[in-house]
Amino acid sequence: MTPKLLVISDLHAHNRSVADEESPSCFTSDPSGKGRLRNPLIAISDALRNDSVSVDWLICPGDLGDRNHASSLEFSWSALHKLKKDLNAKLLFAAVGNHDINSRRDRPDEHPSHVLRQLVPKFPIISDSRSCEKFWTNDYFIKQYPKLKTTICLVNTCVFHGVASKDSEAEAYRGRLAQPTLDRLREELPKKLSLVNVLVMHHHIRQHPLIKEESYVYNGGELIEILKETGKRWLVIHGHQHLPDIQYADGSPNAPVILSAASVAAKPYPVNGRFPRNQMHLLEFDEEQCQRYDQELFGSVRSWSWAEGNGWSQASRGDGLPALCGFGCGQSPRILAENIIDVVKNTDGKPVKWNDLINQISELKFLTPPQFSSMVQFLEKKDVKLAFNNHHLPVWVHLEA
Ligand SMILES: [Fe+2]
Ligand SMILES: [Fe+2]
Repeated sequence: MTPKLLVISDLHAHNRSVADEESPSCFTSDPSGKGRLRNPLIAISDALRNDSVSVDWLICPGDLGDRNHASSLEFSWSALHKLKKDLNAKLLFAAVGNHDINSRRDRPDEHPSHVLRQLVPKFPIISDSRSCEKFWTNDYFIKQYPKLKTTICLVNTCVFHGVASKDSEAEAYRGRLAQPTLDRLREELPKKLSLVNVLVMHHHIRQHPLIKEESYVYNGGELIEILKETGKRWLVIHGHQHLPDIQYADGSPNAPVILSAASVAAKPYPVNGRFPRNQMHLLEFDEEQCQRYDQELFGSVRSWSWAEGNGWSQASRGDGLPALCGFGCGQSPRILAENIIDVVKNTDGKPVKWNDLINQISELKFLTPPQFSSMVQFLEKKDVKLAFNNHHLPVWVHLEA
């Protein structure tokens, strides 16, 4: 059985009042931030229980605290640890975010990652001190979980933060992968593959589609090629700019699926006419499909959005990632649209339930949001319309008279 992963990213914990307009997020250790409708972390377990969702692994892709505030970083790590217990999850691990490092060296006698290295339980993976040691020595760890048919690779993209160089300023924004790290990953990754392979890092592995400035980690392109060379399609999960998205790295075979996680708590900001909200994401893999086509990766992503005062609810249109989407569909949106048209033309004008369509055309479960939008455009050109529910998930398909 492959694991269900809950992604909780970019908490940006601090210790200021929620009334402070300059505060970076709604996740604070200040008493003003207490309560299930104010604190997104403590509301998660109830929200998931209400939707009958279980979690195996809890993943945080970095920025646990804000501006390397030591006690807030500790507060955030212990909140994640408590959430793991509340969810009865078996594993918790986190990436190093640029806000978790003392990049400015304002405590000059400390190593830039001193606070992270002193965390209790040990960072970045709970109850696995060997993997923690490997991570701090090699800037990554790779671990196979044979019972769960899954490999995890956690990579530190912040190793040069706090180290002066001609690119220091850009590195603080983008992160860097060191060449020796990439060389070791190229050698080690192919030996540690599983049915499902997941790489977690903080910075963007490639240019984010919503960002105009260069936003990807230095040498990210080489890491994408290393993942492709393993012969498997990887899932890459990252955080950093709080802009939820899921797409393939490029159009080539084995290009990794890239999940850009939303922030669960940082104050949202507008980008390119959109205003993504705080979200959490639950990833599930379709083991049967993954086994049938073992170079591929198939799964679903459910997302919930946070609103202060209302708590968590299933995502709606425009929030960021939709309430439900997928990854792994290798069919073109045009061909899928033609398959749907063939079905609806044979129903004497009666609408067809989306779930019935999925039973006939299983690839529909594995569409990313851009693939889905493209398919809908083809359908509309042929006068085939979709009806959506309150969360903008398709319910019916019909041919317009
Ligand atoms: Fe962040
Ligand atoms: Fe960041």
